[in-house]
Amino acid sequence: MEQDIQNQNNSITAISGSLRSGSSNHHILKYLSGLVPADITFNIYDELALIPPFDPGLDNDTPPEAVTRLRGLLTTADAMIICTPEYAFGVPGQLKNMLDWLVSSSTLVEKPVALITASLGGEHAHASLLLTLGALNSNVIDGATLRISFIRSKMDSSGNITDEETKQNLKQVMKVFIETITGLNVKK
Ligand SMILES: Cc1cc2nc3c(=O)[nH]c(=O)nc-3n(C[C@H](O)[C@H](O)[C@H](O)COP(=O)(O)O)c2cc1C
Repeated sequence: MEQDIQNQNNSITAISGSLRSGSSNHHILKYLSGLVPADITFNIYDELALIPPFDPGLDNDTPPEAVTRLRGLLTTADAMIICTPEYAFGVPGQLKNMLDWLVSSSTLVEKPVALITASLGGEHAHASLLLTLGALNSNVIDGATLRISFIRSKMDSSGNITDEETKQNLKQVMKVFIETITGLNVKK
């Protein structure tokens, strides 16, 4: 029985706050997927653009389908990673909109979260997201947050990360994050 618990697979849902084709944040998530051990499932969420504008009046037992799917995906996942740029000194609107849909469902309560903000500067979006994730009572893991400035200069035109320090920082974030969620799962 104990063996079964210890072998229980972990899963991570990763969300990019950028909808842009060729997004640096998408490329970072792909890089992270290569750091994940084979026994951990890593899904990159690809329906952010389908989430409708948040409407509390529609936030009832039958919310829009894309919202139901999102909540189901995150409920099943053991952990979530957000990797996002900053727009106009704030969180990208569609990402904040998605998080607003998660308030009433308590989907992120105690969910381990890693937060990476990869942008030109990004300090405002990073700070704002930490507040929002706190409001959602998610478990932002110490040592699993990272702000990467001047991200475009740290990648080549194919999206490969060329900056060694950035790669090391991302590896460290994933090490801490995976150790944490694996440890939490064993204790379940
Ligand atoms: C409309 C717009 C507003 C932006 N505002 C900011 C900003 O306030 N702070 C910042 O750090 N970067 C800002 N940027 C730059 C983005 O962070 C940068 O383009 C980043 O690479 C976008 O992420 P992506 O490559 O994943 O799409 C802005 C970009 C756009 C298109």
